[in-house]
Amino acid sequence: MKPHRILLLPGDGIGPEVTTQARRLLETLAARGEIAFEFEEGLIGGAAVDARGKPLPEETLVAARRADAVLMGAVGGPKWDGAPRAAHPERGLLAIRSGLELYANLRPVRCADALADASSLKPELIRGVDVLIVRELTGGIYFGEPRGIFEEDGERVGINTERYRESEIARICRNALELARLRRGQVVSVDKANVLESSQLWREVAKTVARDYPDVRLTHLYVDNAAMQLVRSPKSFDVMVTSNLFGDILSDIGAQLTGSIGLLPSASLNADGRGLYEPVHGSAPDIAGRGLANPLAAILSAAMMLRHSLGRSDLAERVERAVERALARGIRTADIARPGQDVVSTVRMGQAVAEALY
Ligand code: IPM
Ligand code: MG
Repeated sequence: MKPHRILLLPGDGIGPEVTTQARRLLETLAARGEIAFEFEEGLIGGAAVDARGKPLPEETLVAARRADAVLMGAVGGPKWDGAPRAAHPERGLLAIRSGLELYANLRPVRCADALADASSLKPELIRGVDVLIVRELTGGIYFGEPRGIFEEDGERVGINTERYRESEIARICRNALELARLRRGQVVSVDKANVLESSQLWREVAKTVARDYPDVRLTHLYVDNAAMQLVRSPKSFDVMVTSNLFGDILSDIGAQLTGSIGLLPSASLNADGRGLYEPVHGSAPDIAGRGLANPLAAILSAAMMLRHSLGRSDLAERVERAVERALARGIRTADIARPGQDVVSTVRMGQAVAEALY
């Protein structure tokens, strides 16, 4: 069996703890002869700033290009807050997304039955939620020029630019429409076309592209309304497609629907389906190194990797079912425990999922 080459980028904070559990699960599959891996580890984020002076060293990008897939933890922490912008851990993440042209970010928001009561919303609103947020990841205001803090008329002015080319909008919309075909056939495109020209273009291009997908129903929402609908009736959504910034915000709302951001995986794909997989949660420096972090988002990210980059949907489903079983057995890390429930460590949660894998 030809091994899949996986680059692990544990990063900062809880990143190393949760990626260790994701790796353990992949190794469990490999030990059973289901698949083979060759793991390599690299530096990103604050860890890379400390060791190499920058958040994305060349060698990491080279290794990422060589790998079949990248599995990342998280970046950032207060230690690097005061650093110059080029040495901010987050720059490393943005640079690898851009360097590998990972323009399509998939953030599935699914609520495990066992956790419907962990959400801050009513369980009847949450049970059965299954939304896929498709976020454009290499364009928009995150990367647009001009940007910077400039001096103007004796005071400073901060500038960022929301900018989308038709081709960038078209390709992410195609991703969303294709993915909707494998689901319930509905795409909501989210924009702010009542105010922003970039959004007017977004909406026009989305409509044009959708003509090639007569079997998919495309509708449009302004982002403020979309945010409201997402907490009002999350079950009404199938696929949402949106820009980099709106997707960032809406996916945190999505995370809270499921009860904890510790549960949400993501895939960032380029045009050939190669990708970087990472939990949606951040580095959580306040709980780092204490065995408190929830490894499920990292484990579910590994499942997405099996599905989207390694062609093993069969194994992805088994991992996802193992996570559901562990939750159904009442195994809870602190973030998803109800008062009075027993709380397990990061490692113990990883073990519980590995044990439930069959
Ligand atoms: C995310 C994060 C990142 C983003 C940060 C860490 C740069 O919030 O992946 O959602 O804004 O994209
Ligand atoms: Mg975010």
